Amino acid sequence: MRSARARSTPTPQGIPRPEGQIVAEAFDAVDIIRTKRDRGALSTEQIDWLIDAYTRGYVEDPQMAALAMAILLNGMERREIHDLTMAMIASGERMDFSSLDAPTVDKHSTGGVGDKITLPLMPLVAAFGAAVPQLSGRGLGHTGGTLDKLESIPGWRAELTNDEMLEQLRTVGGVVCAAGTGLAPADKRLYALRDITGTVEAIPLIASSIMSKKIAEGTGALVLDVKFGSGAFMQEFERARELALTMVELGRDAGVETRALLTTMDVPLGLAIGNANEVRESVEVLAGGGPADVVELTVALAREMLDAVGKGDADVEAALADGRAMDVWRRFVVAQGGDPDAPLPVARETHTVVAEADGVLARQEALPFGIAAWRLGAGRARASDPVVHAAGIDLHVKPGDAVRKGDPLWTISADDATRIPRALEALEGAWELAAPGTAVPVPPIVRERIA
Ligand code: URA
Repeated sequence: MRSARARSTPTPQGIPRPEGQIVAEAFDAVDIIRTKRDRGALSTEQIDWLIDAYTRGYVEDPQMAALAMAILLNGMERREIHDLTMAMIASGERMDFSSLDAPTVDKHSTGGVGDKITLPLMPLVAAFGAAVPQLSGRGLGHTGGTLDKLESIPGWRAELTNDEMLEQLRTVGGVVCAAGTGLAPADKRLYALRDITGTVEAIPLIASSIMSKKIAEGTGALVLDVKFGSGAFMQEFERARELALTMVELGRDAGVETRALLTTMDVPLGLAIGNANEVRESVEVLAGGGPADVVELTVALAREMLDAVGKGDADVEAALADGRAMDVWRRFVVAQGGDPDAPLPVARETHTVVAEADGVLARQEALPFGIAAWRLGAGRARASDPVVHAAGIDLHVKPGDAVRKGDPLWTISADDATRIPRALEALEGAWELAAPGTAVPVPPIVRERIA
């Protein structure tokens, strides 16, 4: 039903109203909320109006919060999710990389503990002549942010203009930088609201939020790393799968060659959880070494990204072993003001947990390790908090590894010793040593590919 104020066609998107001017609104937010509350479907025109009206402040936060809860409880049809994504894209600018000679391909991960894959992956893919425009974020809560990790490198800067980004894609082949405020501003506001209203977990809202930014970014191809498990944003495999399928459809509808890998996140990825230590571990992978799980996921994602741009025969392992990916990494760090040879920050205080008996590590839960690293200062509780780049956890063992009494299990690091007890508290009950000789199955990281 139209509101009493509705008189005309839907309001054109993104046109600011001069202050004080009375403008006929096409729809009424309360009608839209009621429709979704009563399990109805919203029309394309209603969704276009809603996102435009929310962006210009006509629809208020409490109204949008009520609608987000109705969507979380009652869902959206595929067409509604598509319309929501397109409306959020239309709320801001769209980037255009069509002037580049190279095909563009990006990756998005739904995030997990120790997930530093962007760092070795971007240079590896760029080493094969694909351009990788990676717009990333800072961390909030127990999962770290790619920009926070890279900012451990002295001099490295995350803020680039669109022109600088384009130039670096031309000269280096890859860029990792902060998404400008102009990209899907409706999502920025809605995401902050969802965060404080218990409505983050709605698949239509997550899918439209992630894909609106990726489509607006202008990449030609996209590979999604959708994680499931105790340390993931979506803990159940079936829900993660539904999210992945929804995002792949949204990308394809928008003309972006989109694929997804469903990957496990029950234990931390790699041996480093933090910022500077994750950069160190990524450099090890670029030097042809590094932990097996980080290498396995980096290689799987690189193959998928290169296949998506017609380079499916690339020998990605060779580019890690022979230094081609490392060359791109070094040029990338320099291009963004950093010194790839500068020492990374080291924490003032460390504490090593040791095995109290012989055994086999049977369990190491990602979420508590992420929380412990966060308490050490590696993450932030509020968007405005600084992170401590040297803080974090270095694992010495992973599930399935045998240990002897007194062997180190993990070392936790902080600049401030008072943070250490709270971090140790987070780890209580988060791991388990089984009797020597116990077989501990280690599942493959990639459970399913959606292509
Ligand atoms: N990341 C996003 O960008 N949006 C969401 O809704 C969830 C994760």
